[in-house]
Amino acid sequence: MQCFKSCIVLWVIYIYLFGVFCYDFFLVPAVYIFGDSTVDTGNQKYLTTLITSDYPPYGRDFVPPGPTGRFSNGKLANDFGAERLGLPYAVNYLDQSATVQNYLQGVNFASSGSGYLNITGYILGVETVDEQLAFFRKVKEAIIASIGVNAAEEHMQKSFFLISTGSNDFINLYNIDPIIQAMYTPAQYEDLLISALSGYIQALYSYGARKIAVDSLAPLGCLPQQVGLFSKAGECVDSINEPIISFNAATKNLLTQLSSTLPGSYLVYFNVYDPIYEARNNPAAYGFQYGKEACCGSGAYSGLSPCTTLNVCNVSDAHVFWDLFHPTEKMYGMLADGYWSGPPSLAYPYNLQQLVTF
Ligand SMILES: *[C@@H]1O[C@H](CO)[C@@H](O)[C@H](O)[C@H]1NC(C)=O
Ligand SMILES: *[C@@H]1O[C@H](CO)[C@@H](O)[C@H](O)[C@H]1NC(C)=O
Repeated sequence: MQCFKSCIVLWVIYIYLFGVFCYDFFLVPAVYIFGDSTVDTGNQKYLTTLITSDYPPYGRDFVPPGPTGRFSNGKLANDFGAERLGLPYAVNYLDQSATVQNYLQGVNFASSGSGYLNITGYILGVETVDEQLAFFRKVKEAIIASIGVNAAEEHMQKSFFLISTGSNDFINLYNIDPIIQAMYTPAQYEDLLISALSGYIQALYSYGARKIAVDSLAPLGCLPQQVGLFSKAGECVDSINEPIISFNAATKNLLTQLSSTLPGSYLVYFNVYDPIYEARNNPAAYGFQYGKEACCGSGAYSGLSPCTTLNVCNVSDAHVFWDLFHPTEKMYGMLADGYWSGPPSLAYPYNLQQLVTF
């Protein structure tokens, strides 16, 4: 009788643990990531591109410390996201040692320097989002070969897809290229990028993706490089931020619109703009000491030269920005908190914690 009781107790514990296990690990079996340096965890290492962070002091606060190919001192928001989902960091697609077992837990296709457009970063030898999607098709074929078509389709439906790109289309293309400016008004250029994004989301949907999130753009007019170049008093450059605010609103509208035309889809908008803008302009309120000035770099706001061991600060966490373009791990952690459990102002219409239950 004693044994019978303890068996019941063990059985209840078993079912409970199994339930927790299912909740954490099966509803989102994998994360697939597309985009630029805001989410690139090292694909750049395998490309002959000038865009590189594969040298010290990048990654100095990573565990274990050392350059990883991430443009930060440590983890990116997508790394924090994987941790919350109980998944390993997604394998870099260009890492030749990646296996189909890795593919089943997520793949990162992101390429630093790329953008929504094929020509963004083209001369730098980066992988465009279009090429990243072609790589994804190969990954899906490998998954089908491994677990069969039906299981592969179910896998894609449950998995989480993240697109994070677009900054380079503005600050490293349109804003500096008179030829592109002559071809498109700002409004036409926004339409061009939005239609590219729309095409990418519909392509992912056609490959079986259902849970897709898109990062907004950061306040690009507040990046140390842009402030160093274009702002005298150290304020964010409104003329650079305005088209970004407009583009972010158009992104959010597009997602709402596509949600109603793509049955069974869950399209989510992650607001990156406001948390960075707020922390940058009011650092003390968010536990930072320096909002304007990057930790690593030199010149005005440490925004005018690349990050090296010779121009790096001592305490990364004291800064919102790590280098002239990219946030610190601490700032990325704040962004990840917003994605994970934030209100609709940060993750619209659902946060990741809600999304995994669908
Ligand atoms: C990028 O190039 C591919 C292949 O040439 C093309 O199908 C696609 O429409 C292009 N994407 C954009 C956004 O121009
Ligand atoms: C970093 O700390 C060292 C030793 O405390 C100090 O000499 C140096 O000036 C500091 N560097 C910066 C950039 O604050």
